[in-house]
Amino acid sequence: MIPPVSSRLPDFPWDHLTPYAEQARRHPEGIVDLSIGTPVDPTPEIVQRALGAGADSPGYPLTIGLRETRQACLDWLGRRFGVTGLGLDGVLPTIGSKELIAGLPTQLGLGPGDLVVGPALAYPTYEVGAALAGADIVATDSLTSVGPRNPALVWVNSPSNPTGRVLPPDHLRKVVDWCRERGALLVSDECYLECAWETEPVSVLHPEINRGSLEGILTVHSLSKRSNLAGYRCAFVAGDPAVVGELLAVRKNLGLIMPGPQQHAMIAALDDDEHVAEQHARYAARRATLKTAFESAGFRIDHSEASLYLWATRDEPCWTTVAWLADRGILVAPGRFYGQAGADHVRIAFTATDERVAAAASRL
Ligand SMILES: Cc1ncc(COP(=O)(O)O)c(C=O)c1O
Repeated sequence: MIPPVSSRLPDFPWDHLTPYAEQARRHPEGIVDLSIGTPVDPTPEIVQRALGAGADSPGYPLTIGLRETRQACLDWLGRRFGVTGLGLDGVLPTIGSKELIAGLPTQLGLGPGDLVVGPALAYPTYEVGAALAGADIVATDSLTSVGPRNPALVWVNSPSNPTGRVLPPDHLRKVVDWCRERGALLVSDECYLECAWETEPVSVLHPEINRGSLEGILTVHSLSKRSNLAGYRCAFVAGDPAVVGELLAVRKNLGLIMPGPQQHAMIAALDDDEHVAEQHARYAARRATLKTAFESAGFRIDHSEASLYLWATRDEPCWTTVAWLADRGILVAPGRFYGQAGADHVRIAFTATDERVAAAASRL
């Protein structure tokens, strides 16, 4: 009998939220679901049109992606984040970023005895990827606490899911230096780079952060949130051409190919900043409404300077807060889902319609 792989993976905790979702649904004016960060506004017209224009796609696309797709990634990184020194051999499209995050340790050949380091409060897929490979994972924000062991891979996530925290440039520079000293690959999940409200996040691909060298550095970028494209699965990985080349060589064999029509959609989305500004304004308004409403209801908002979440607390166990909000028909995610350090917080997503956001505010 083959032992089930799923038993090696962390427990998918959303089931624990089901009774609270049922309770919230019983509210006479319906549930306001702020528990997940899934976009609810339309995919931009120009992107839908590009998908349609690319619909005739009888042959296999290449794993490396179209030259135009990779060029659009480079242009976007340069235009929006001042990234220099990256060439076409330093970017690779992926089928959403979650598959890359979950598969990366395995695709890079990590296994038992290897160490992966991730943030103390984190998107759970870093742990999933390490567990799938059979590697160890340490969840910590302090690299000094890693001890004498040399990790193979270090994840950072700025802006952070769930806390919305943005790591300052100095901090990122120290992480780059530390990883280089230890020979660890630094992978920065930058999916929320354009979702910032009170600060300007930087990419580790910026020459002032990586000291003008891409060696040992990868970044992960997703169009899901930026362009309301979660259903299209458009993302890419960028950085050290040697590592990107190795990933390409492995992923070719796995058939991990971004579909052709999606590549055309991704080009249109990356080339356009107007829809991003419009979506940014929508989220900024929802965030402001929710922040005021939660603060007036006695919550403290920590971090939350970027991403699509408010990281909120009433200095009580998160499940008590979840229950209190569910009584008012509002569903949020307990901070405990993201790590022990989140035990007294809840994560409030502002990916809900204006109407639902207004309903939440009036109930609070
Ligand atoms: C931090 C982080 N990384 C990656 C992802 C995955 O995004 P996608 O697979 O849609 O690109 C998410 C999704 O919520 C996320 O929060």
